[in-house]
Amino acid sequence: MARVIWGLATSHVPSIGAAMDSGKTGDPYWKPLFDGYAPARAWMAEHKPDVAVVVYNDHANAVDLDMVPAFAIGTAEEYKPADEGWGPRPVPVVQGAPEFSEHLVRELTDEWFDITTCHRLDVDHGLTVPLSVYCPDPGEEWPCPVVPVLVNVIQYPQPSAARCYALGQALGRAIRSFPEDLKVAVFGTGGMSHQLAGARAGLINPEFDRMFLEAIETDPERLAALTREDYIREAGTEGIELIMWLVMRGALSGNIRRIAETYHVPASNTAAALALFEELS
Ligand code: DHB
Ligand code: FE
Repeated sequence: MARVIWGLATSHVPSIGAAMDSGKTGDPYWKPLFDGYAPARAWMAEHKPDVAVVVYNDHANAVDLDMVPAFAIGTAEEYKPADEGWGPRPVPVVQGAPEFSEHLVRELTDEWFDITTCHRLDVDHGLTVPLSVYCPDPGEEWPCPVVPVLVNVIQYPQPSAARCYALGQALGRAIRSFPEDLKVAVFGTGGMSHQLAGARAGLINPEFDRMFLEAIETDPERLAALTREDYIREAGTEGIELIMWLVMRGALSGNIRRIAETYHVPASNTAAALALFEELS
């Protein structure tokens, strides 16, 4: 049977990908952030999954605002990096895992999560930057196939944090019921506090971020109890991306170990973080 072996929470700031693509990771601005990634990257390189389930949001690149599903899963053979205005990122096409995707859609639908299926999908920085955080030098291809799980965090009303946590729990059960012997990593992406526009543009809330980084391991129920308005007030309009970390956390058990963590301000307009958890049960 398939099993979850680790969960990674990571920011997806586009300029983190651009820094890697343009060889700027050693620049004084970026070096502290990338140094912070090193222990997690080394551990993940030693614990390679067969497939990655990446919980992310599209930023009106592949899913335009005419039709915004609350939750969706990609079921394609492959996903091309999206052109976000300056050409697609120079990273490999993402290989899919269609059979596993179809299994997850079916299981989640049977658990009353009515999932939208994406048979064709380009993937924007929300997915490709976390893959680069995991694997900085993929060469010709990424180290494993990917199941994209999309969450609407950009158009009101976003699904509640509690609903995201429950989706993660159902996702964990769905993964574990897949009959093949697959090692699965689950990525929760986005965050931490940031707001890109409006009167509070530039908002960073380190107290909230630190509380969240701790509680995502020890007290996810506390985070699931916060409303979308709480997230936007405390973490900013784009900080609500943090609800996607709860999907990842829900897919893990109560028996986990924190392998690595880093928190850095600023990366572009955000507080950027990474937290890596090993599944022990
Ligand atoms: C930035 C952060 C995001 O989460 C995003 O989707 C786009 C831009 C930024 O800080 O630049
Ligand atoms: Fe974003």
